[in-house]
Amino acid sequence: MDISVIRGYGIFDFFRTSNHVPLFLSDYLDRFIRSAEKTYLNLKYSKSELADIILELIEKNDLKNGGIRMLLTGGVSENHFSPSEGGLYIFCEDLLFPSQEKYDKGVKLVSADHVRSIADIKTTNYAFPVWLSATWKDSGAEDVIYHHNGFISESSRSNIFVIKDGQISTPDQHILHGITRMRVLELAPQTSIRPISFEELLAADELFITSTTKKILPITLIDDQKIGTGQVGPLTKKLMADFVEMEK
Ligand code: PDD
Repeated sequence: MDISVIRGYGIFDFFRTSNHVPLFLSDYLDRFIRSAEKTYLNLKYSKSELADIILELIEKNDLKNGGIRMLLTGGVSENHFSPSEGGLYIFCEDLLFPSQEKYDKGVKLVSADHVRSIADIKTTNYAFPVWLSATWKDSGAEDVIYHHNGFISESSRSNIFVIKDGQISTPDQHILHGITRMRVLELAPQTSIRPISFEELLAADELFITSTTKKILPITLIDDQKIGTGQVGPLTKKLMADFVEMEK
């Protein structure tokens, strides 16, 4: 009867280890703590206590290159609605990255008119994209790009970057502020953070999405429209290479 299960009310976060080191751990912990606060869920551990648990988990599982999921549930409550004392779960997982071919050739996104509510909280509620994903299989798409009122926001599990005439841009509204996005903004500090229209998306020279499980993944097709030359562009390639260096 945990409201995470019966109402979809809970939060999580997900990060990776690289050679036993949890990548960008401090940023992920900050976001997890922020998500708990914003959802009024009681996280009984401090940032440093969580970090200690995670380091122990990595050591005990000899987790060289793997994923770690932190999950805080809404808890069981008398009225089956209000959040109460939830359960905290921290566990490791195998990582599943896109194939090398997808990084080399780019992938397709389908577009959908949708705006995520409480977008900057990493809630466990992904009902809309999971439901919609039944249609991606037929189109060969990797994921979806959300737009609403003519402006784009993000993909179902990634942030998006648009490149036109050498200028990189990324939206800031109705998104989860991704940790990978944050790293790309450090690699490309000249990036313009601003509203981006759906037309601009289609007219881009290059596009890519970012996430913990996709890193920097080029997009070469939106619905049935080719982006730029239809090949992975030079700026995207450079950022992909720079990001590999950053992870070392
Ligand atoms: N998704 N936007 C949404 C809605 C997300 O769920 C995610 C992460 C991101 C990218 O954030 P980050 O760079 O911190 O991973 C953006 C995870 C990976 C997932 O649900 O699998």
